[in-house]
Amino acid sequence: MTQKRDAILCEMGLGPIWRLRNKTETVRADEPFVTAQDRPVEAPIAVHPEPVEGQGDRASRIARMDWEELRQSVAACRTCGLCQARKQAVLGVGDVNADWLFVGEGPGAEEDERGEPFVGQAGKLLDAMLAAIDIKRGKDVYIANAVKCRPPNNRTPEPEETAACWPYLQRQIALIQPKLIVALGRPAAQTLLGVEVKIGASRGRRFEHQGIPLIVTYHPAYLLRNLSDKAKAWEDLVFARKSMRELKLKTV
Ligand code: URA
Ligand code: SF4
Repeated sequence: MTQKRDAILCEMGLGPIWRLRNKTETVRADEPFVTAQDRPVEAPIAVHPEPVEGQGDRASRIARMDWEELRQSVAACRTCGLCQARKQAVLGVGDVNADWLFVGEGPGAEEDERGEPFVGQAGKLLDAMLAAIDIKRGKDVYIANAVKCRPPNNRTPEPEETAACWPYLQRQIALIQPKLIVALGRPAAQTLLGVEVKIGASRGRRFEHQGIPLIVTYHPAYLLRNLSDKAKAWEDLVFARKSMRELKLKTV
């Protein structure tokens, strides 16, 4: 294990766990201890709510937008109730030609203030998670959320709200065309897959969103409250990195 990776794993709260395991199990930090590559690709049927009247037009307009139009549309959007308490909508950040797309739930207080996703405490952990698999914010990764406006008191967005915001995320995906999507937490996973998802039962499997491989892991804010699950998130990241390597080999 390199010193850098050691430091990152420490920041993720994994250092001691790894050392403990390494002593007894000789598990390498860069190898998954759950191998999921043999499991079948899951292909759930998308079941997003029917668009309410007029929303079909809106969705098809959004589906034709370029980045600048998307930015303006999101900034001015008042389609769902989340517009009421937001300071600003938060579209996303990063490399628009990225291979990696990470999708969270929705902006928190700091994100609402600064207009960038994952800049608060959960964001620090996300950056450490990215660094653990050699990814740096802004380079080959785009970070977005299921809803672009902050839910009051950081509550979970309602299905109506994620559905109202869904055309924006869909357009972001279509423009970026990532090789792999990582859904952070249940709301993101359910929004992207259009089905009920339990993170614990879905980890280590490869799903698809419109032909793009998708994997799920815990949301960093959840990991801050449930430190013992950080080791599982690390397994998921290693699985993600391995999947990306395979995907890149396929497209060479
Ligand atoms: N949590 C999220 O899901 N997204 C953010 O941007 C910040 C915290
Ligand atoms: Fe519009 Fe999405 Fe904000 Fe709702 S959360 S107001 S749909 S940008």
